[in-house]
Amino acid sequence: MTDRIPSPAAPRFEAAPPARIQRVIPIVSKHFIPVERLAVPFDWAAEFGRQAPLALEIGCGTGHFVLQLAQRHPEVDFLAIDIYNKGCLKTCSKLDAAGLGNVRVLRVEARELLLNRLAADSLRAIYINCPDPWPKKRHRDRRLVNREFLALALHRLEPAGNLFFSSDQRDYVEEVAATLAGLPAFSNRLAAPFTEELPGYPLSKYMRRFLDQGLPVYFIHRQRHPTAERPAFQAPELRRGYRSRRPGKES
Ligand SMILES: C[S@@+](CC[C@H](N)C(=O)[O-])C[C@H]1O[C@@H](n2cnc3c(N)ncnc32)[C@H](O)[C@@H]1O
Repeated sequence: MTDRIPSPAAPRFEAAPPARIQRVIPIVSKHFIPVERLAVPFDWAAEFGRQAPLALEIGCGTGHFVLQLAQRHPEVDFLAIDIYNKGCLKTCSKLDAAGLGNVRVLRVEARELLLNRLAADSLRAIYINCPDPWPKKRHRDRRLVNREFLALALHRLEPAGNLFFSSDQRDYVEEVAATLAGLPAFSNRLAAPFTEELPGYPLSKYMRRFLDQGLPVYFIHRQRHPTAERPAFQAPELRRGYRSRRPGKES
């Protein structure tokens, strides 16, 4: 069967995905969980064969970041997600080669996973690195990280759970920092709203690319306040531009 989806190419600059069609390459890896296999609620402890903190990387790309993080933190289990089939495939290849047991890869849209497949208070940390920037002013409402998303993320983080966000787009980072300032259940772990240096934080492929060009990357680190009340969240609506898969076109 030939499953076809719209190409996820040109992730950084253009507003709408190009009309090119790309074949979905089936992923055969012990690190990959097809999303249809995810019962609700999913038993992560059974999947990983142990009770351990669970962390999530959203938009893992080709897996550079999660590989480093999982190697540094064998005591944590990681979910690495992306909507990009080839990225999931490359992430799995890296994990297979490294023989890591504490990462699983899912091809799933971030809000779909957070909303429908993860329980409240279930995540020790959420990492979002260099998400699609939607730099054009008229497309900024397509950015993943907005108030609605942050309220949902807050709900899925365990008390004292951590949120990390990085981007080369200063206005995106400023926007996220300002939104976070309006959510007092998140406390700032930095001395400033954001920083250009986050010691000990692994570099993702995109971060490395920007830094190699002499461009800055900005980091945010917040923590869910252990006792502060969380605001209610609304189920996010998936709109065009979030690069989710088109109905009827996917596997
Ligand atoms: C610009 S790339 C950055 C990749 C990686 N984080 C890095 O820093 O090298 C953004 C990635 O996020 C993925 N992505 C974008 N929106 C997403 C969403 N709503 N849910 C899951 N992944 C998403 C894209 O497919 C792409 O692989």
